[in-house]
This record gives sequence, C-alpha cells and structure tokens, in this order.
Amino acid sequence: MAIHYSKECAQFQIDAKSFSYVMQVKDGFLLHLYWGEKLDLRDHAYMFWEQGRAAFSPRMENCRGFILDDVPLEYPCWGRGDMRTPALEIINPDGSNIIDLRYESHEIIDGKPGLKGLPAVYAEESDKVQTLIITLLDKISNVAVKLYYTVFEDKDILTRHAEIVNRSADSVYINRAMSASVDFDSMHFDVISNYGTHARERHIQRSPLKYGRFTLSSRRGASSHVHNPFLILTSPTADETSGDAYGFVLVYSGSFAAEVSGTQFHTARAVIGLNPEEFGWKLDAGESFTTPEAVMTYSPNGLEQMSANFHNIFRTRLCRGKYRDVRRPVLLNSWEACYFNFNEDRLKKIADCCADLGIELLVIDDGWFGKRDTDNCSLGDWVVDRRKLPNGIEGIYNHLQKLGIKLGIWFEPEMVSPDSDLYRAHPDWCIHVPGRPRSEGRHQLILNLSKPEVCDYIYDSLAKILKTGMIAYVKWDYNRNMTEIANEQLPPDRQREVTHRYYLGLYGLLERLVTDFPDILFESCSGGGGRYDAGLLYYMPQVWTSDNSDAIERLRIQYGTSLVYPLSTMSAHVSASPNHQTGHVTPFNTRFTVALTGSFGYELDPTALSDEDKENVRRTAAIYKEYGDRIVNGTYHRLRDPHMEDCAAWCIVSEDKSTCIAGYVLTHVRNYGPNERIRLRGLKKDAVYREKFSGKEYSGAQLCGYGIPAPLSLEYHSLLWIFEEVK
Ligand code: DGJ
Repeated sequence: MAIHYSKECAQFQIDAKSFSYVMQVKDGFLLHLYWGEKLDLRDHAYMFWEQGRAAFSPRMENCRGFILDDVPLEYPCWGRGDMRTPALEIINPDGSNIIDLRYESHEIIDGKPGLKGLPAVYAEESDKVQTLIITLLDKISNVAVKLYYTVFEDKDILTRHAEIVNRSADSVYINRAMSASVDFDSMHFDVISNYGTHARERHIQRSPLKYGRFTLSSRRGASSHVHNPFLILTSPTADETSGDAYGFVLVYSGSFAAEVSGTQFHTARAVIGLNPEEFGWKLDAGESFTTPEAVMTYSPNGLEQMSANFHNIFRTRLCRGKYRDVRRPVLLNSWEACYFNFNEDRLKKIADCCADLGIELLVIDDGWFGKRDTDNCSLGDWVVDRRKLPNGIEGIYNHLQKLGIKLGIWFEPEMVSPDSDLYRAHPDWCIHVPGRPRSEGRHQLILNLSKPEVCDYIYDSLAKILKTGMIAYVKWDYNRNMTEIANEQLPPDRQREVTHRYYLGLYGLLERLVTDFPDILFESCSGGGGRYDAGLLYYMPQVWTSDNSDAIERLRIQYGTSLVYPLSTMSAHVSASPNHQTGHVTPFNTRFTVALTGSFGYELDPTALSDEDKENVRRTAAIYKEYGDRIVNGTYHRLRDPHMEDCAAWCIVSEDKSTCIAGYVLTHVRNYGPNERIRLRGLKKDAVYREKFSGKEYSGAQLCGYGIPAPLSLEYHSLLWIFEEVK
C-alpha cells in the first residue's frame, strides 16, 4: 500500500520509494504538511505549526485563528484571505469570485483512472500504483473539486490533476484552474527552467528564488520554443548527484503557466497548469472540467535522479506504441538534402544511395503536395504534386520497396495556406475573429481544431494516404503561433475556451490516428522544438528536437531537453558540414557523437557525399543499429555542462550496466588548457569494461573514479567511447 489514511490524525500519507507526501485535514481545510525524503508511517501533525503571522492578512472567522495567508494549502483558492497565487478562481453567478473549499470525502483506489480527452501517464498491470481522490466542496456555491493523486511507487512519481464539478443549478465561470500547487515552508531554493527561441530551444537557466512571482509561461497557443512546461526547484547547492530536486511537468501542449513565488513569510508556492491569461471556462449546472495532468517527482540525490525518474515514466508510461521500447529506424530526411527542390528522379537517386549506406527509412519532407515550391501555398491540400511525383507516392514507394527501405512523409495538418484549395473552399475554417485581419505566420493560418468538422477533414485527408499502407513514418509539423483566437460557433462568454478546446480537438484527432494506424511511427515537430512537451509524447514518441541541426548548438539544446525528456524522444540527425543554420564546420565524428544521443538519422544529401563520408555514414548507421536499443532504454548521465564550460560530456549506461556509451565534445579551445578526464557514472564498480575502438580495458571503479582521459586540443572535435563489460 502506497497511500495511507489515518482517520485519527486526519492525515493522508503518500509513499513512493524515495519520498513521502503528507496532507492533513484541519478545520475542514486540506493542508499540505510535507513533501521530501521518505518518512515512516506515523502522526506528522507537529509539522504544522502556526506562527500566527497576520501582517494585515485577515483571519477566518470561527477558525481558531487560522490565517489563510500563512498556512500551507493543498489546492488554494481565491477570495477568503490567502493572498498568494491561487490554484483555483471561480466567478459565481452573482459575479463574486470567492470559493472556499473544505474537505468532504475521499477514496483510495488501485490503479490510475485516465483523464477524459487528455493525454496522461498510464499504469500497466504489473505497476504498484494507487490513486487517492479527495473531494473538497464550497457549500455556498455548491462547486466541488476532486483532487487526484496517483503514486507510481517504484518509479518515484506522483501525478496530480483536478476535476471541478458544478453541483449547483447555475452556471459558473472558471477563471483559473491549475493542475497542481505545492506550498513549501521555506523559499531557500534555486529555480531551474528552460528558455530559448526557434532553433535555440531549451537552454538551461538557474537562479535563486526571490521574493515575488516568477512565472514561466506561454500564451502562444503552443507550449513554445521560449519556455517549456516544467519547473524545477532545488536546494541552493544541489548539483547532478546531491541535494534536493523537485520537478513538476505539465502534460499539455498549449498555453501553460508554471509559477513559483517567494512570499512575505519566506515560504514558497509552486503552481503549474493552464495559462489563466489564455483560459476561461463556462461550467454549466451538472458539468465538470478536468485540468491537464501534472507529473511530479522528488529526488534527494540531485538533478540526475530527478531526470531519470522523468525519463523512466515518460518513456515507459507516457509514450505508447510499438516503437516505445526499441530503437527507431535509421532515417534520412529530405529537408536539408533538397528543401522544396526534388522530383521522383532525385528522390530515387537518394534512395539508391540510402540503400548502399544502410539507411532504413527515407522521409519526404515538405514539398510533395499541392503546388508547394515555396512555403507560401498549398497547406491543407494533401494531394500529391504530379509535377514532382508523376507516379504519385506509389512511384517512390515501389522503388523503395525494391531496396528494402521504408517510406516516411511530412504533413503540417493543423495549418492552411491562404493560397490553397482548402482555404478557398472554407475560409472560415481557420482561427480568426470575424471582421478583423488574419495575421499570417510563414504565410499560413491555423485551422480551428475547436471545430469538429475541421478535425474530421484533417483525419480524412491524412487517413486517405495512410490507408494505402505505404507510409511507415509521419513527421507532424506545426509552424506558427496562434493569434486572433476565436470560434464564431461559440457564444461570446465561451471565447476564452477556444485554445483549450483546440487542444482537446487535436488530442482527439491524434488518438483516432494512432489507434487506426498503430504501425506508423509519428514524430512531432514545430519548427523543431516549439511543442516539445509531454502532451504530444502520448501520441508521438519522438520529436524533431530543433531546426538547428548544428552539432555544437545541439549540445546545449539536447542537454537542456534532457532535464525532463528521455533520449528516445529526441530526434537527432547528422547534418551536412558546413552546417546550414550556423555555418560551423564540424568533423563527421562530432556530428555523429552528438546525434547518437537521440533517435538517430541523417539530414543531408547522401549523393553529394565524398567516398570517405559515405563510409562514415555506413559505419555510423551500423553502430546505431547495434547500440540503439541500449540507448533508448539506457540511463543518461550529464557529466559536463556546455552552458557552464567549454565542453560537453555525457554517458548512457544500458539497463543491465554492461554497456556504456560516452561522448565528449570540445567547444572552445584555450591555450594550455587543463588535462581533461571525464569521470563516468552508473557503471558496475567491480566489473571490467573493454573500450570498443581502442580495445583497452578498465574497471568500472577506474572509469568512475579517475575517469577516462580526454586529450583534445582542436575545437569542435570530439571523443566517443563505447565500453562493454568483459564477461
Ligand atoms: C520546419 C521543420 O522543423 C523542418 O524540419 C522542416 O520540416 C520544415 N518545417 C519544412 O517546412
């Protein structure tokens, strides 16, 4: 049993392998008592002690001096004296915005219920998983909130979401409904998050928590390149292997907010959920609203364990489908090879070359449909362009079949070009406000997936092609942010629902597609990593990590992505040198070493390669095929941080610890630099490992203790080691 309720103490204790999470009911309020290192099972009431700090904050009447502003609350609400950031704000029929939630009941069940219409972590039969559902009620408005807590005991994961239930006879409006809120009795934390932009996503920033509200958010209608929907709090001195690390990840792809605040009483509150600036929901009598899920973990051993917990749960209990636990096919993507400039003949030449080099899947990226010679037309017209492919998709498919290569194809299903047959037929299908100009991004508009007929159109036009059985892989792109958000089919008081309804529509559409086409590998993309989030991973187990394919730039991007997301989800390709985005000239081996930390492929024209580089492709494709499963299922260790140093280093240790793949890249050369050695982690100390390329043997103790020398003096050069246990 992982969830315990003591009636005597009015306490809930949720125990995972390494942490406990404790709540208590007091005077009807659900208080948060503790989240941290694992506790024994006993009365923890002493952890709640009131200092009686009022500082102008009102007291609750009849509550023996409760000052709501100074108590740790589990799901704080607006309107009765807690002046901190609320989790919930409701507009009542009389226009007031008060909600006063008190404990009503609870139940503990085995397993984990799904979330209606939303992606979520799931449990398998063998998992030790329990769910606690606590119902809180505002007796005056008759609005109830059901708080769901699911613990994956062995995986050190707690998931949370809330269901708002309108039990009254009137409609109410939800102004804010966060997925989780946690009060800490100290603000002695560092805050770690991702920041960036297109082609420079998910760099790491870290700073001490200050007084005030620190918000990471997106109001772009997508989780975005700019911030990522997660938040990490650590003790100030925490590093990869020591200190407290708390992580919160939202399973959602639209506008989000993650906030942590340092309060007047030196405490901290963290909340994560739908962005209240871009959200509102009218809840009619008898209806309920479900928030997206927040996935939380705590590690007493620093960031590495926190990341490993997230990697494990996301890889094995969020991602689905037949590719979940295995290496993905080695692919070659046509984008940086040809851009829009290809025809059947050119693709066939590329295919022949792929066959010779050991590539297993050829992806035809943008440009195969409508009249798409540039990015200013044809999105929405998913009909093959016979000028380029006179024999249709079959022409290239039949050729690939003979070579034993699979076919992948690009779509940008959520978009429409103003210059398209679809737009001419249905100008009202895009997101727009009637009577206002429609802002274009990359010459395109967004189809309004909050309209069911639009989702049906997208399903039908894709299914028509997928049903042919020719397609083994789909790259699902999304290349702009939302503006002029509205749906004229909804009344004015429901317009703030549109973005969330859009995502419910998208998730429903994706669910239909992955159910009907279970053999297709779906990869999501949004100008690279503009929607790299746990929401989409439920449908598509990998993401084109960034439009920046430069190995040196990818070091920071992939390092930052790894804080939360597993390697199996990061698409990483060897691209041409000089790189198309940065002009960096980088040795082939460096490009390979960096791409080997993800779902692997090539993003270059193989027909233009020198004989030496063709041999490099042959050699490296073979290495990925041999070690790919171990990479997908392995544990990732961040060893040297490219944000802080002139190098990057990491290692991936297979589940049974018999294989370790380690990489090191020198990003900046300084004269007379130090003697570098890279200390590995995660190996069996008493085992002997042979390094594949040099044949030298080392003990695990040596590799973790002293490490492996990294004698490099050339910028952008790298070292790759593969250690295998000598049995
Ligand atoms: C943006 C993607 O990130 C690229 O990889 C490529 O697919 C282009 N779109 C195609 O338009």
